[in-house]
Amino acid sequence: MDLKAVQAAAERAALSAGEVLRPLFNHPHEETIKANIYDVVTEGDLAAEAAILPILQQAFPEFGILSEEGGGADGGEYQWHIDPIDGTTNFANNIPFFSVSIALADRSLRPVVGVVYMPILGELFSAAQGHGATLNGQPIHASRTADMRRAVMSSGFPTDRHTVEGDLNNLRHWRDMLWAVRDMRRFGSAALDLSYVACGRLDGFWERRIHSWDVLGGICVIQEAGGTVTDIGGGTAKAFSGEEVVASNGLLHGDMLKVLQG
Ligand code: IPD
Repeated sequence: MDLKAVQAAAERAALSAGEVLRPLFNHPHEETIKANIYDVVTEGDLAAEAAILPILQQAFPEFGILSEEGGGADGGEYQWHIDPIDGTTNFANNIPFFSVSIALADRSLRPVVGVVYMPILGELFSAAQGHGATLNGQPIHASRTADMRRAVMSSGFPTDRHTVEGDLNNLRHWRDMLWAVRDMRRFGSAALDLSYVACGRLDGFWERRIHSWDVLGGICVIQEAGGTVTDIGGGTAKAFSGEEVVASNGLLHGDMLKVLQG
């Protein structure tokens, strides 16, 4: 497969979603409730998805498509995993920390291309397996922080946090990590968090109960930037689906897992 051609198509699609989203930003939005009142879709998610799909379908009709708002069709050995807006709550509130996330992955959910675009911040993170990771065309690398007390981490909370059992709401892990590190952030877009680990702005990120379309673009970027991604057990069985994703600069990975397994 010509991964550079796949990456170029993913970048074109993400940039065209940005063209659609920028004029909608800083205006009131139309919200529709999905699974519960904390989980919404806006006119922006639908418009961005409508911009992305035809570009990818035309460039690579052989690939299946899994997109958060339901567009596209399954099929093929490789599949696109698309989040037209990751960080919909931020978009709905006109907070600029949201992203467009597009990944191509095989049937085991291993990403070979990943693109994460922040249209308001003007940042395009992009990677193809074996070709490195870039931010606006410049190579990026994970941080070299090796001491948890100097680390800045981020995380997020699942939209069903009010109803899930025990620690799945992430409150205990958040508190335990806050005690271990210099400081914590909650940006509200997992794809943005993962990209920030890839370029060294963050030293680590974890989240549970999210989806392949939230994480696979950023995972590809981190892996190409020299970082590490696993699930909480330290394997990869639950990481690529978004069920449990722990991402770091590699140097802090063992320490992060110890906190999350505690
Ligand atoms: C959300 C973001 C957020 C996470 C939420 C997700 P969405 O994705 O990734 O960081 O904490 O759980 O639902 O719904 O805005 O695409």
